[in-house]
Amino acid sequence: MRAWVAWVTICFAGTVATGVAAAKSPGSVAENTAQVMLPTGNPFPQGAGSDLANAHCLICHSAGMVMRQPPLTFDDWKAEVTKMRAVYGAPLPPESIEEIARYLVTINGKP
Ligand code: HEC
Repeated sequence: MRAWVAWVTICFAGTVATGVAAAKSPGSVAENTAQVMLPTGNPFPQGAGSDLANAHCLICHSAGMVMRQPPLTFDDWKAEVTKMRAVYGAPLPPESIEEIARYLVTINGKP
């Protein structure tokens, strides 16, 4: 029991000390913000429509998720993008679906 109290006391003191040190150090918030890195991985290959894909398809997974699929037709890619939007909630405007699908055919498509 005593050992437990001592352990808790040490942990608590350590947490408070760290908190105080962080609060006192000026600019610590800015330093931390600068170190945030989003794991977006590599962008999509450059081409007509790649900006749209980069903006809308890297929020949840890498471009590899697209490149590793078997090649799809335009209609299949359209269905795939529609599924990303309707089922997984990808925040992309409906009018972009066809343009993204056209681009996906150029990077991983079949006739
Ligand atoms: C809101 C999150 C989200 C966004 C944005 C998103 N996806 Fe996905 N995507 C997912 C999830 C979740 C999976 C399933 C992952 C798994 O099975 O491990 C997935 C899987 C995939 C697959 C693999 C096949 C499949 O159906 O599971 C492809 C291809 C794909 N996404 C393409 C796209 C494209 C193209 C875009 C951009 C238009 C996109 N995704 C945007 C969430 C998203």
